Amino acid sequence: MRSLLFVPGDSDKKLDKGLASDADALIIDLEDSVSADRKAAARDTARNVLQTARRDGCKLLVRVNALDTGLTDDDLDAVVPGRPDAIMLPKSAGGVSVTHLHAKLSAREAIAGLPDGAIGIVALATETAASLFTTGTYPGSSPRLAALTWGAEDLSAELGAETNRDDNGGFLDPYRLARTLCLAGAAAAGVPAIDTVYVDFRNDAGLRRECEDARRDGFTAKMAIHPGQVAIINEVFTPTPEAIAHAQSIVAAFEAQPDAGVVGIGGKMYDRPHLLRAKVLLAKAGKTR
Ligand code: COA
Ligand code: MG
Repeated sequence: MRSLLFVPGDSDKKLDKGLASDADALIIDLEDSVSADRKAAARDTARNVLQTARRDGCKLLVRVNALDTGLTDDDLDAVVPGRPDAIMLPKSAGGVSVTHLHAKLSAREAIAGLPDGAIGIVALATETAASLFTTGTYPGSSPRLAALTWGAEDLSAELGAETNRDDNGGFLDPYRLARTLCLAGAAAAGVPAIDTVYVDFRNDAGLRRECEDARRDGFTAKMAIHPGQVAIINEVFTPTPEAIAHAQSIVAAFEAQPDAGVVGIGGKMYDRPHLLRAKVLLAKAGKTR
């Protein structure tokens, strides 16, 4: 998965547009983009989309309301029978929240006649101040954990900040910390890290820069809020032919010298971490070597 497009769950029009886009996944939102009096309608719409949309090539996630809202159970009752690929959990407090959601899903999967564990969990790991201290608690929380991602909008509101970005559009320190903690938390839990949204949705150059920074640092995907962002995200998170060729040369060099712990290629040193990185990139690109 490279691109995950948020679509407000109460908008049939946007859901149709999202399904027609090239996004690798849609995140059907029942949370912040849906007003309180539209929650019930959004649940019905989300369930309908899950039951009727063609799934080929596009995964369907549902972002439910946070565990402390009292809305999560009704959200899950509505959407689990439609077998979403994953539930996105906002305002996650850490591994405990994922374990909690895991239990809720297990019960509902059984009731719906779905295989145990059919539905994954993607946690939004940095939306609250307290959650910054628990991003290391995801390992072992649930075999359903499929990815971690992070958010800067709710976090800035909770911190009482005037803004979360500087005049050039880059994230300020508190949000760079949240981003890094998400990345480390995901790596510690052995799941992919997904970069947060870029809200300035007409600024293609800014989006591209943020995607490239994210890929460089280890994120494997980015969330989108507008269909116009999908093509750039897909492009940046698809390994280039040059990157694939380079990774293949590293793997080939180690295969040619099975006893070597370290090799030199083109005047540069490569050892185990480089080999691991090359293999991860080739796996992402769908190449066995
Ligand atoms: N998914 C699907 N379709 C979308 C879309 C989205 N996220 N965002 C916009 N579109 C559609 C619009 O409905 C419009 O369709 P139309 O041409 O048939 O009228 C078209 O794409 C162009 O939209 P545009 O006019 O550029 O933007 P807008 O002012 O209509 O919408 C937002 C701007 C921000 C309200 C909208 O992009 C949106 O709802 N984004 C998702 C918000 C969200 O889910 N937030 C929660 C996570 S942070
Ligand atoms: Mg939010």
